[in-house]
Amino acid sequence: MENFTYWNPTKLIFGSNQLEQLKTEIPQYGKKVLLVYGGGSIKRNGLYGRVVNYLEEINAEIFELSGVEPNPRISTVRKGVEICKKEGIEFILAVGGGSVIDCTKAIAAGVKYEGDPWDFVIKNAKVKEALPFGTVLTLAATGSEMNSGSVITNWELNEKRAWSSPAVFPKFSILEPENTYTVPRDQTVFGIVDIMSHVFEHYFHPEENTPFQDRMCESLLITVMEAAPKLLENLESYEHRSTILYCGTMALNGMLSMGFRGDWATHKIEHAVSAVYDIPHGGGLAILFPNWMKHNLKVKPERFKQLAFRVFGVNPEGKTDEEVGLEGIEKLREFWNSIGAPARLADYGIDDSKLEEMADKVMLEGEIGNFKKLTREDILAIYRASL
Ligand code: NZQ
Ligand code: ZN
Repeated sequence: MENFTYWNPTKLIFGSNQLEQLKTEIPQYGKKVLLVYGGGSIKRNGLYGRVVNYLEEINAEIFELSGVEPNPRISTVRKGVEICKKEGIEFILAVGGGSVIDCTKAIAAGVKYEGDPWDFVIKNAKVKEALPFGTVLTLAATGSEMNSGSVITNWELNEKRAWSSPAVFPKFSILEPENTYTVPRDQTVFGIVDIMSHVFEHYFHPEENTPFQDRMCESLLITVMEAAPKLLENLESYEHRSTILYCGTMALNGMLSMGFRGDWATHKIEHAVSAVYDIPHGGGLAILFPNWMKHNLKVKPERFKQLAFRVFGVNPEGKTDEEVGLEGIEKLREFWNSIGAPARLADYGIDDSKLEEMADKVMLEGEIGNFKKLTREDILAIYRASL
């Protein structure tokens, strides 16, 4: 285990009827509020009206930025920064999924930065401070509600890049499971895949002696796999929506990953696919992760065996570690197939014509992968296996 410091300042407010807490949280930061949201789901399900009512009750002066895209664009970030600067916004409220929250993080940092926000997204500049912001989460997936990461797409350059800064932890996040009832089936599945993938990114790390971390990761995976099919039978189940919502936050708020650095190659390999083809992040991960696993099975077969045995119930008797590990990977594939996740790039109409271009994009920030450093050839092999 490596030395570590854990710090997470986000206040997590979880449960039914918690939205009213906006009235005590927001006035601590100011009156001029920019409400940021996506393409309209919050208007259709009534959440927008509830949020605006509470904002009016505290006499907030409300400004709006709507239309944040899934895979949020730097152009929308720039728009948000402009509104904040022009109107003297004091607090930003993100109401939506990971895309709305990630866009909000970049706006919050962009307001305090003189240059173009793309500079800090590509790490040409460092974020020193940010406008305070809070979130009302509507989709269980990214963990953005309780972490300091953000992923922004530059559509002109076809680049999708992750950045992070301690300055962009949300001040608070309100998670009402009911707000996720209207998430369509496919997005629910993508969220489940993303949550599980975050755990896999942690699980495959180069450290030894992480027994408690391993079991926390395994426990989260088992919990999600138990709840997922039940949730998909009843998308308005409070019980299962709340389980998945809580797991989504815990999967990427630093709780599972103390004392080691996870792999994170698959996320970068996926981001390059989204950057070129604009596919949903969870859909891309469902296609790529089992192939990353197969590609790296030989690096540490005993790690794959542990996952297969403890999480996927593979019987190890009379088999090599590699055989057990491979069975585990196949069980993961079967599970994701069973909930309707995509399995091949062809499911999104993606052929081999841009694999080289995507591999170049992955390599933009240098070597990737902490469990195993991947070369450009490794990345191409994973793409080819995913066609
Ligand atoms: O835009 P609206 O109309 O709100 O519709 C959204 C969008 O179309 C819809 N939706 C959200 N909540 C809903 C709902 N529809 C009905 N009812 C609701 N309650 O779902 C669609 C997808 O939303 P989006 O926010 O894009 O999904 P997600 O939360 O999966 O976020 C994906 C983005 O986050 C990044 C991804 O790369 C991608 O850009 N990630 C961010 C991370 C982070 N900040 O830590 C880590 C992740 O690994 C990930 O890379
Ligand atoms: Zn993810």
